[in-house]
Amino acid sequence: MTPANPEIKRHDPSDIRMHWFNAACWLVLLVTGLGLIKNERLNPLGAWLPDLLRGLFGGGSAGGAVLLVIHEVAGVLWLVGILVYLGVNGRGGAFFLREIFSVRPGDLVWMVRKMGRMTLGVGGELPPQGYYNMGQKAFAQTSVLGGIVIGLSGMVLLASDKLLPAALTVLVGWAVTLHYLAVGLVFAGLLVHIYMAAISPEEKPGFRSMFTGTVPQDYARHHHGLWLESLPKGDSGSESAAK
Ligand code: HEM
Repeated sequence: MTPANPEIKRHDPSDIRMHWFNAACWLVLLVTGLGLIKNERLNPLGAWLPDLLRGLFGGGSAGGAVLLVIHEVAGVLWLVGILVYLGVNGRGGAFFLREIFSVRPGDLVWMVRKMGRMTLGVGGELPPQGYYNMGQKAFAQTSVLGGIVIGLSGMVLLASDKLLPAALTVLVGWAVTLHYLAVGLVFAGLLVHIYMAAISPEEKPGFRSMFTGTVPQDYARHHHGLWLESLPKGDSGSESAAK
């Protein structure tokens, strides 16, 4: 007999591994990156983090050099990890990109009403959403486009030490600026993402799915109705896996 509220497959194990690998890389890159900004007027956290991290890795400029190597190695590993994921599950990657960049008219209504509900406690019924809701799409678009800028500018900065001639100083200046701006933008979205995904009580099944890979059918119907409708019905009448 089919259970009343069966579990529906939402994430492939490779998607889950990719997500947590990405989150771990972000954590290391953010902490070491902030630790590298020695100018306390530019560092949003002031001087304590650079001083603490440099102290941990031998102190002074030697500590700073170790910090830079950790940041560079983590950055390269992050990019390699993304390429490996695309090699292992290119279909999953293509599905993700297609979903986050397809915005329907109802999505904008969803976004305005959701923000009204969360901030002022007003707003009509939310239009049904697909695999991702518009808030998730907006963050995912920011993190993909921001990630591309961060990755490309990071590679320019990595090359700038050894390979790039002095004539390309302007390029390095732009790379630094774009690197900071893109990290700031994605980080702002990340604060909302972590609140919505891990703290907001109504999204708890979504959070659990980032470990188990499945969500209850009722949750899928309520939060991602168009996705549930699009799934092929299995023999038992319940929906089967999406990706
Ligand atoms: C503590 C850190 C994090 C937590 C708790 C978290 C949680 C989650 C959860 C639960 C989902 C699944 C939503 C669903 O499909 O129903 C998700 C998806 C996603 N996460 Fe994270 N995440 C974290 C860090 C990050 C970081 C650092 C990034 C990238 C900068 C990121 C990017 C994404 C993207 C692009 C998705 C798919 C779209 C979305 O649901 O917004 N996450 N995350």
